[in-house]
Amino acid sequence: SRSINLAVVPGDGIGQEVVAQGLKVLAAVLPQDVKLDTKEYDLGARRWHRTGETLPDAELDSLKGHDAILLGAIGDPSVPSGVLERGLLLKLRFAFDHYVNLRPSKLFPNTATPLAGRPDIDFVVVREGTEGPYTGNGGSLRTGTPAEVATEVSLNTAYGVERVVRDAYERANSRPRKKLTLVHKNNVLVYAGHMWKNIFDKVGQEYPEVTTDYLHVDAATIFFVTQPERFDVIVTDNLFGDILTDLAAAVTGGIGLAASGNINPTGEFPSMFEPVHGSAPDIAGTGKADPTATILSVSLLLRHLGYENEAVRIEDAVAADLAERTSDTVRTTDEIGDALAVRVAS
Ligand code: IPM
Ligand code: MN
Repeated sequence: SRSINLAVVPGDGIGQEVVAQGLKVLAAVLPQDVKLDTKEYDLGARRWHRTGETLPDAELDSLKGHDAILLGAIGDPSVPSGVLERGLLLKLRFAFDHYVNLRPSKLFPNTATPLAGRPDIDFVVVREGTEGPYTGNGGSLRTGTPAEVATEVSLNTAYGVERVVRDAYERANSRPRKKLTLVHKNNVLVYAGHMWKNIFDKVGQEYPEVTTDYLHVDAATIFFVTQPERFDVIVTDNLFGDILTDLAAAVTGGIGLAASGNINPTGEFPSMFEPVHGSAPDIAGTGKADPTATILSVSLLLRHLGYENEAVRIEDAVAADLAERTSDTVRTTDEIGDALAVRVAS
């Protein structure tokens, strides 16, 4: 019989609240014959305050044994900036070789967006997840003095670029519009930029049906706002992808709806699914957090594990729920989770 052995890392702030709703909907959507096992991991700010640990080896090892990881949010103002980001979130992405950071953007009905009335926005950003300026490759000389010099080197390997570009072509090839846009900045970043473009063109020869396009990242931000319907699949480096996907979320319904998957396509390591938003300490505990981004991340998780019908049921439930949401219905985190759990079960 089928089973899912899920690791749950609620993390900090609203992470706790939204993950509870994600699990509620997951339990509601799964067929009876699928056994769901969950194990919760106490990682994040509280753990760090208590023990000084971010992600001990024993826990990393144990996480490795799961089919997938559901993560809420990491970060708290009481922890110095970067400690949990590097020591926990990025450590997981790197250790489990999550080289595809998948961030879909779809304009759902009835959502607060500067682009209302543009129903045809439906694109996905394939953000490289293990290289670029995120590798911690840099340093500072004469730190804190007026003569300080700091470097933050962007690491790009042909191996790393080719595998993520190939994944993006595969995704584009399987979508109706079959369009792939490379976003970089190769008019200035000539070494990495030219390597990305050369690899993009070379791999493209294997996908004759995919239409390709190149945009500099600054121009891409304009089109995200003025012409988002031109995009289908976008492939880009780790930092450009970080920035573009916040913008994408903002123009397609807000960060409360943006889901993501940190995917290890080879299956060697568990993939990890999380909302794009952070821990929002300002609203933690108030019941104001929208769990939809986490619930849509559960949909990505199900698709990754081969439960396509269940993944679609969640997306349809969210679309139906949003269609009925109006600006004067104020619902709590729990109420939104309940409503979606009811919809996916029926
Ligand atoms: C994200 C976040 C992270 C990132 C931070 C918290 C390290 O902004 O998931 O987009 O930059 O990748
Ligand atoms: Mn980000």
